[in-house]
Amino acid sequence: MPRLKGQVAFVTGAGRGIGQAMALAFASEGAIVGVADIDKTTAEATVGEIEKNAGTARAFSIDVSRREDVLRAVDQLVAEFGRLDIVANNAIVFRREPVSEIREDTVDRMIAVGLKSIFWTAQAALIHMDTERGGVIINNTSPAAELGVPRSTAYSAIKGAVSSLTRSLAIEFGSRRIRVNAVCPGTVPTPGARAMNNNDDALYEARRQRTPLGRLGTTEDIAAAAVFLASAEASFITAAILRIDGGVTVFGGA
Ligand SMILES: NC(=O)c1ccc[n+]([C@@H]2O[C@H](COP(=O)([O-])OP(=O)(O)OC[C@H]3O[C@@H](n4cnc5c(N)ncnc54)[C@H](O)[C@@H]3O)[C@@H](O)[C@H]2O)c1
Repeated sequence: MPRLKGQVAFVTGAGRGIGQAMALAFASEGAIVGVADIDKTTAEATVGEIEKNAGTARAFSIDVSRREDVLRAVDQLVAEFGRLDIVANNAIVFRREPVSEIREDTVDRMIAVGLKSIFWTAQAALIHMDTERGGVIINNTSPAAELGVPRSTAYSAIKGAVSSLTRSLAIEFGSRRIRVNAVCPGTVPTPGARAMNNNDDALYEARRQRTPLGRLGTTEDIAAAAVFLASAEASFITAAILRIDGGVTVFGGA
């Protein structure tokens, strides 16, 4: 029995990478998926993949930092399918720069996409998630929330805020039966992450070697954890930050 049968999910940044894998995994478990991405072509490609596997999805070419865009997209999804059960906040703009060089518009954009958007999807969840059945919000944080990472101050600060927001939302939304958790992926060599790291193969090999389980993460590893958090098996789990990182975050080195 598919674990998310009859449910409706909205995934941001679902045109590629981890968000796309989440959208595909939710659909393969029976959910109808709203695929939101600023890139129309990739959003539609994700929908195409889902439909190829006999699933149902709709593409929303929106900028998730814009409250109106988010609320309108989720309104449309719910108008067509009648409910909202799962929101996965995954969209990001990555930049690695030393503080001395970071520009105001870069910081503003990163915060708007990586952090502010979660407020807008949370408002959409409050409007549309059933008061009896409740629902699930899954945020996407990073080990960078807790570790010191050079040239990554804006990203680390945003992910620290995402972890913090996950906990606060979980408390605020508990009485609405909306569970709020975060996945915390280790290194996953997606196109976006690789580009941020200048496609530096040596860096990825060094990270692999530091990872106790001896490999890097895959988008499917993260999507599987998101499906678990969305499922009834996780019905008493809220405010959790679930590391899917092969053990690398807590590895102190030898
Ligand atoms: N890849 C990793 O190693 C890694 C590790 C830890 C955490 N994460 C987190 O996982 C998530 C996804 O990472 P990824 O590597 O798949 O990234 P990615 O860059 O491959 O994908 C991000 C997606 O977000 C979309 N997007 C960007 N701005 C948008 C906007 N304004 N509105 C709508 N969509 C927008 C992009 O078009 C893209 O499809 C992020 O939250 C990231 O911080 C990734």
